[in-house]
Amino acid sequence: METRLLTSAPEDLKLGAEIINRGGRVIFPTETVYGLGANALEEKAVRSIYDAKGRPSDNPLIVHIADFEDVEALAEIVPEKAKVLMENFWPGPLTIILKRKPCVPDVVTAGLDTVGIRMPENEIARAFIRECGVPVAAPSANVSGRPSPTNFSDVFSDMEGRVEAIIDGGDCSVGVESTVIDMSGDIPRILRPGGVTAEMIEAVIGEVQGGTEVRPDEAPKSPGMKYRHYAPKAQVYILKGDVDEVNLFLKNRKNAGLLCFDEHIPYIKAEVKILSLGSVKKPEESAKLLFARLREMDRLGVDEIFAPEIGETGLWVAVRNRLYKAAGGRIVKAKKKVLVVCTGNTCRSPIAEGIMKKNCPLWEVSSAGVSAFEGDSVSENAVAVCADMGIDIENHRARLVDREMVEEADVVLTMTLSHKAVLGNLYPEFKEKIFTLGEYSGENKDVSDPFGGDIDIYKNCFIEIEEMVKKCYDKI
Ligand code: TXA
Ligand code: MG
Repeated sequence: METRLLTSAPEDLKLGAEIINRGGRVIFPTETVYGLGANALEEKAVRSIYDAKGRPSDNPLIVHIADFEDVEALAEIVPEKAKVLMENFWPGPLTIILKRKPCVPDVVTAGLDTVGIRMPENEIARAFIRECGVPVAAPSANVSGRPSPTNFSDVFSDMEGRVEAIIDGGDCSVGVESTVIDMSGDIPRILRPGGVTAEMIEAVIGEVQGGTEVRPDEAPKSPGMKYRHYAPKAQVYILKGDVDEVNLFLKNRKNAGLLCFDEHIPYIKAEVKILSLGSVKKPEESAKLLFARLREMDRLGVDEIFAPEIGETGLWVAVRNRLYKAAGGRIVKAKKKVLVVCTGNTCRSPIAEGIMKKNCPLWEVSSAGVSAFEGDSVSENAVAVCADMGIDIENHRARLVDREMVEEADVVLTMTLSHKAVLGNLYPEFKEKIFTLGEYSGENKDVSDPFGGDIDIYKNCFIEIEEMVKKCYDKI
């Protein structure tokens, strides 16, 4: 299909409106993201939106209007608080879910008895909808699962050849989709965080539910929340850690991308592809940049994208929500807590702890024993072989392993299968993070107990552990 490119000039908007009235699809800019519009009252036209996006049709669409009077034709009941929201935030990035009128086709609402209505602030959008003379159903104009397009070139590369026309409106000013709030029940509930924040809403209608982000592992509240979302081709991770930790973590990543706040960029020494998320003090900058940056990372051809932790108030909630979804909930800590476990915590595990502390700056290592006597000193030979290698473990004191230690650790490495079995029995809930050092290093053997042996036995033990630890460097 040939896609016509339209400007925001009145005669072009008129052409676009004609396409909508003939049952076609027109992509138009809004202040949040570009929308893929069709006549909301025509079932066939709405159905064709799904074809263009390649999206399952069980997902309800937002109906866009140009004027306050247009609500009446769509909503059965408009509660007082919903009116207050309209007065305060329309036109703007807020979608209000209301009980629908029968004229709204099932295909728009995915069979729900409610309809999402929004009056965009973008002047081109409103002029276009007004010209159409009908409400315009429009999801974000991305191929399903991809980041929403927030500029013309992104929308063009996704949708050229898939729709009748695209109106070029330049860059979207908000950059994340509208806040979706359900006003159809007794209690107002935010289903999707967006440009209008929970704080702004509470300031005018009082308490609302769902103000903080919808976590990806929660059951979807808004039907559209259940699909893979906002995902570029490369895997996205939320990376937790301070600047030093992040630098160490990224050091050996060959082809990684890092989304980074401006204030932190000067401190990134790792050779990764860095793209700015704006100022750490300005969520509106991150919101505006996020989707475009995810797409840019794909163009740079990175294998993995790391993104920073995001705050949990105001507009950050919306940015955080989109990033967590793009990451599919994958969070990595630059620094990992490793607990090493042997029997008495006087020979093998203190040696392993010493070796790890010296060689693995990104591991926060501690050790304990499954039948240790609290406060026991480390065996003399263990202290001696470590001292030879420049590792001081003299002041280590034995600790008996407990639940808290295991719970806090990211990985628990035991010296033998029997230690692993003991811990697995004591703390079955943490089983999946307990390994033998042998397993973890791929050697699949136990580290035998040097206890009571001579210095050569300890030396061999040291070498054995050191070799295994080396093989674990990149795995944790
Ligand atoms: O900013 C936006 O909202 C953009 C622009 C184009 O307006 N549109 C947008 O549409 O993001 P879409 O289809 O990508 O997301 C619509 C969201 C989905 O999460 C959907 O499940 C929810 O709104 N939604 C729509 N109608 C609903 C309803 N009746 N009940 C519950 N959720 C609804
Ligand atoms: Mg969308």
